[in-house]
Amino acid sequence: MKQIKVAIIGCGFIGNGKHLPSLVRQEGVQVVAFCDLVLEKAQTSAKQFGTADALVCTDYRDVLNRTDIDAVHVCTPNSTHAEISIAALKSGKHVMCEKPMAKTAAEAKAMLDAAREAGKLLTIGYQNRFREDSLFMKDLCDRGELGDIYFGKAFATRRRGVPTWGVFMDKEKQGGGPLIDLATHALDLTLWMMNNYEPDVVLGATFDKIAKIGSPANIMGPWDPAAYEVEDSAFGLVKFKNGATVMIESSWALNMIVSNEAMTMLCGTKAGADMFPPTGPIVRTADFQSASSLHVRVNGESAGKLYIQNYAMGAAFIGDGSRPEDFDGGFRESVAWIKALRGEAELVVKPEQAYTVTRILDAIYQSANSGQAVTVA
Ligand SMILES: NC(=O)c1ccc[n+]([C@@H]2O[C@H](COP(=O)([O-])OP(=O)(O)OC[C@H]3O[C@@H](n4cnc5c(N)ncnc54)[C@H](O)[C@@H]3O)[C@@H](O)[C@H]2O)c1
Repeated sequence: MKQIKVAIIGCGFIGNGKHLPSLVRQEGVQVVAFCDLVLEKAQTSAKQFGTADALVCTDYRDVLNRTDIDAVHVCTPNSTHAEISIAALKSGKHVMCEKPMAKTAAEAKAMLDAAREAGKLLTIGYQNRFREDSLFMKDLCDRGELGDIYFGKAFATRRRGVPTWGVFMDKEKQGGGPLIDLATHALDLTLWMMNNYEPDVVLGATFDKIAKIGSPANIMGPWDPAAYEVEDSAFGLVKFKNGATVMIESSWALNMIVSNEAMTMLCGTKAGADMFPPTGPIVRTADFQSASSLHVRVNGESAGKLYIQNYAMGAAFIGDGSRPEDFDGGFRESVAWIKALRGEAELVVKPEQAYTVTRILDAIYQSANSGQAVTVA
């Protein structure tokens, strides 16, 4: 079996939490280069996950100069995704870039073009597609069980879940708040299931009201309102060329009881379906349920009666309440990626699809700024 040699750029939360553990679990995969602006972070990750002679560096160009590397994982802040991914593609590497694809649609388009010109694979870290409930619901859609899906809702809401580490509140580095950070997952799920990548018109609104008040109750600790530059909640309405409509709800902080992150609800002519989180003690906390939707509910009408069918998605938590390693889809995402690199399977998350997600999010921000509906370019 050919060894696949991977490099990681950005050895922070998602690099160490999702990419590296998933890569090193797979036979025939080696992580041979580690780059982070903070040398100690690259060193620590290399020690835990790298080959004995792994390159450790602070300048990503040192990684790209290597000719033996097959793929680069870009796990740096959003503002750097386009620059690093494009440079990596131009240097002949395949690229797995973290979500969101980029800060703007223009940057995402440049990434797409670079991948096409280089003839290399580009994918985006939408691991929620690989959750059991997502795969089940996608299969229902593909088999036509819901009929023509003409309305959907993309949920990305946290009650008080502002990420206070890293640069998440920095407008220049991230491009935005929960819309670009969380809704990107929920919208990706929704478009993928509807298989509709032809948006037409978007209307959006963003708020920063709780951001400016502050919250000692935030699950990741309080923030400094003066340093909080992005929105705390954002909402969007998307009309597609065929008339289908999707609503997007996203928040890091919002006064609402239901927290539904990276979930979707679909309404079709034959049936409807939605994901919903388990109730009771297996939920991590009542107010922050990242990727913990474990049930799919199908609703419809049969024999003259309305029905709701509840599908439980298998064992999700192990005894002590912790999650199995691949519960949130991160491991399955990595396996699918390595298969695509080996030419054994098609890419699951195609860059064209992520580009359309980015176009819609960009249009929501534009609409929120202008107060007008925006035609998606
Ligand atoms: N898929 C998911 O669900 C998910 C979850 C969390 C974060 N993310 C994404 O991952 C990315 C990183 O987020 P994080 O939470 O890991 O942040 P983080 O701050 O923990 O890690 C980012 C790392 O990148 C390093 N870095 C910054 N600029 C760099 C550069 N030019 N070259 C090399 N290293 C550089 C930083 O020093 C830091 O160690 C973001 O785009 C975020 O949206 C995705």
